Parts: sequence; structure tokens; C-alpha cells
Amino acid sequence: MSVNIAVVGATGMVGRKMLKVLEERQLPVDQYYLFASARSAGKTMTFMGREYTVEELTPTCMDGKKIDYAVFSAGAGTSRTYAPIFASKGIIVVDNSSCWRMDPEIPLVVPEVNPEALEGQTRNIIANPNCSTIQAVVALKPLHDAYGIKRIVYSTYQAVSGAGMGGYNDLKNGMNGEPPKKFNKPIFGNCLPQIDVFEEDGYTKEEMKMINETRKILGEPDMRITATTVRVPVFHSHSESINVEFEKEFDLDELREVLRKAPGVIVQDDFKNEEYPMAILAEDTDPVYVGRIRRDNSVESGVNLWVVADNIRKGAATNTIQIVEELMRQKHQL
Ligand code: A2P
Repeated sequence: MSVNIAVVGATGMVGRKMLKVLEERQLPVDQYYLFASARSAGKTMTFMGREYTVEELTPTCMDGKKIDYAVFSAGAGTSRTYAPIFASKGIIVVDNSSCWRMDPEIPLVVPEVNPEALEGQTRNIIANPNCSTIQAVVALKPLHDAYGIKRIVYSTYQAVSGAGMGGYNDLKNGMNGEPPKKFNKPIFGNCLPQIDVFEEDGYTKEEMKMINETRKILGEPDMRITATTVRVPVFHSHSESINVEFEKEFDLDELREVLRKAPGVIVQDDFKNEEYPMAILAEDTDPVYVGRIRRDNSVESGVNLWVVADNIRKGAATNTIQIVEELMRQKHQL
């Protein structure tokens, strides 16, 4: 059995990576359709040894095409307008923007963590979580199952590629002394404790995404979570310091073993040999790397973790394509 897949935002940083991941994972795809804005219409992109022409995304662009799945990464505004149009035509949309994530009727899915949320979906739209949330919950879910998470403190060190081509170019051009265009402050030689806009209480939207999306994915609406999210002058991969307090007592070696057995996780934790996860090691790979695993002696039962993953791969493109694979598995198309 084969399916047809549309990539919306195919010319963007995540869209291109989605094409690469589709190529690597060899899904049984018959036909691909690439969509982007009018700016890119008519451009050609080579993918799987074939040349594809990028088409303009319009309300009727899908008419006359038999599309089974559409993966979107073209911003929240584009998703708000176009995802319902695709969905109304029976196409299952997997959306990488923030637009639908907190809609109670829309599943928010990390396949290693809550694949069951896809079962019985009725709206034909599935949301891909925020990049920094994805890598965190891949590491936290097995610990929550084993010890019961009472409280989480997130502190993130996020790569510029999370802000798309514009973010990437701001760091690259900043090295040559050029002023930023995407960020409102220089990122080269700097750390910006602001990702996305501020809310009334002084938290940024990115921080609230981490808090709310973690609760939704883990199915724990009242879990105590706080976050500080920071953009750092790194091109690829987000790093996160995660402090966790548990309900139950734990043994540190056993906790390491729980993480070693967790799907999607690689434990890199040998401080005596100065081995720990780093952005440059995670770049262009799919696992979530966990290290610096140590007891937090300031509370009864707590641990500190350092969690790193490629934000464009596991944090965006790979997770989106894994959701498509999971949907296909559940429909016996794989
Ligand atoms: P385009 O390249 O034609 O502007 P990034 O986040 O890396 O900047 O990528 C954003 C992606 O979303 C690009 O593929 C971009 O297409 C696409 N995009 C942005 N706005 C729209 C829109 N209004 N309609 C369709 N695609 C859009």
C-alpha cells in the first residue's frame, strides 16, 4: 500500500528537513506535492533523485490531487487558514506550528510518549509539539512512569535554527558585524532570555508552551512546572537543564537504567571521562541525549538532567514524520 504526501512549507528549514527525513525513512509514498508561498511557486527542488516543482499554497491547490497526509511547517497563520481546508477534504494534517497544539480536540503527539492520543482522532489535524517540549518529554515520560513527577524546572539553551532561516542568518551575519533582522537584539556573542513574545505576567510564550504542552502530553493538567527559555548563539540543537522532583524515592543507577531502556533516548553520562551530551554531537541525529544525571540534594527526591537533541530533526521534522508513520501503522498502511 502506498500513500501521497504533501509538504507545506517545503522550502523552509523544517520543510527541507522533512523531505530529507522522508527520503531516509523510506515511507511507502507514491506521490509527493511540495507547497510554499507565491514567492517560491515554480521553483524546482530535487528530492529522491527527482525534480519537483514547488506549487503555491492556495485554498484550491489540493483539488484534483489525491493527498492522504499533509505535513505543515509554514507558520501558525498559514496553518490556521489552510489546515482546516486540507482536513475538510479528508487529508490528515500533521502540523508543526503552535496553532492547534492546545485545542482540546486536537492530539498533541510524541510517538515515543503518547501514540495512543492519535486513536480515534476526529478533526484530521494532529499537532506536533514545540521543539523544546518534545526532547524534554521523551526523557521525562519514562521517569514519570517509574517515580511520579511532582515538579519540573526547565532552563533551556536553544539554537537559532529554531527561529527558521531568519534566525540562522542572524547568527551567521552577526559574526560579520551585521545587525540582526529576525531577532530584535544581536544573538552573536549574546544570550537572549526571550523566545517568542512576552505575556502579561512576564513569562514568554515559549516558556508557556513548554509548561502547557508538557502537561497535555503527559496527561497531567495540574503538574507543577516552571521554565526559563533562552536563545543562545548555537546553530543547531537545543540543550536543556531539567530539574525534576519525584513523588517516590529512586536509586540513581536504576534511574539511569530506566533512561537507557527508554525509546528514543541515549544516555551519555560518564562525568569521570567528561562525557555528556553536547549540541555538536546531537546535530543531524534523531535521538534525545541525556547526561549529567545527578541527585538534587536540596529536595527529598530530585534529579538534575542535561538533555540535548537536534531541534530541527527530533524537535520538528522527524517527530512530524514519525507521527505520519504512527498514523499509517494504526491504519495498517505500514
Ligand atoms: P517561502 O519559502 O515561499 O517563503 P522558515 O521557517 O525556514 O522561514 O520557512 C517557512 C516556510 O513556510 C517556507 O517554506 C515558506 O515559503 C513557507 N511560508 C511562509 N508563509 C507562507 C504562506 N503564506 N503560504 C505558504 N507558505 C508559506
